Amino acid sequence: MKLDPPEKVSQEQITLDVREIEPLLQAPPMDLKPWPEAMITLKDGRVLYIREARLDDVPLLLEYMKKVMDCDHDFYDIVGARVYAEILGWQRKRVKDPFTLIGLFDGMLAGFANGRVMNEDIAISLHTMTFARGGRIGYAMYYAKSFYALETLGCKEWWSTFESYNGWRMAGLEMAQPTYPWPEYQHELGGARVYYVTKRHWNTSLKNFTRQMIGADFNFNVTDEVRKRNEVFRVPDQVTL
Ligand SMILES: CC(C)(COP(=O)(O)OP(=O)(O)OC[C@H]1O[C@@H](n2cnc3c(N)ncnc32)[C@H](O)[C@@H]1OP(=O)(O)O)[C@@H](O)C(=O)NCCC(=O)NCCS
Repeated sequence: MKLDPPEKVSQEQITLDVREIEPLLQAPPMDLKPWPEAMITLKDGRVLYIREARLDDVPLLLEYMKKVMDCDHDFYDIVGARVYAEILGWQRKRVKDPFTLIGLFDGMLAGFANGRVMNEDIAISLHTMTFARGGRIGYAMYYAKSFYALETLGCKEWWSTFESYNGWRMAGLEMAQPTYPWPEYQHELGGARVYYVTKRHWNTSLKNFTRQMIGADFNFNVTDEVRKRNEVFRVPDQVTL
């Protein structure tokens, strides 16, 4: 848009350094506490190691997610496409206060969960994915990020929505999450219903969730042996979902 200046000006052009524009495009980060690494033993005896993803994991995550987007069943395509954008948005600093957790078996990517912090009171759940099906890995990943938002960060509410039947069953149904009135409230993922967990609901009913659904609790005292086994991050060669 252009308008003539209402006064004589000595210089008609102002040159901007993009470094001056960048602070206006990316949000100043909140000082978020890190997710403490954790491990959990699944029903089949495998130990899932959950840590925060690092920026150096991003190239492999994106490469794998490109393949997941082509998987046209159980909503892996739409969730894969959105997760690709969220990971890239984190790398390119176009998501406000994101957090990204990965679940690994011997370094191999098996689960994914991410979200972002809207403000000190509300955290938003973005996506949960499992890449090795049938082990309730999704439950562990969703619970990990809920724990992070409500316990570690101390947010008062955790807002989710669900794009797939398995996702809705895993967290909407199994956690008996209520919804805010729709369409007055819309989740940032496509304007769908906002399902929410309050700190009170968490404290009174959901702390036992992993024990009920997975049969074990998180262990935050990760052993050196488990850490070592998961040292080298890898992604599956093929998408077999
Ligand atoms: C939603 C999701 C994270 C749920 O996690 P999960 O419960 O650990 O996931 P799974 O898909 O392995 O299992 C879901 C159920 O379907 C069954 N199932 C369906 N298809 C299956 C398959 N191809 N192989 C094995 N199990 C399958 C499982 O046995 C399981 O039932 P159970 O828990 O009663 O045993 C996961 O299904 C997923 O990544 N889906 C695609 C992305 C998505 O929809 N994310 C959520 C967005 S809201």
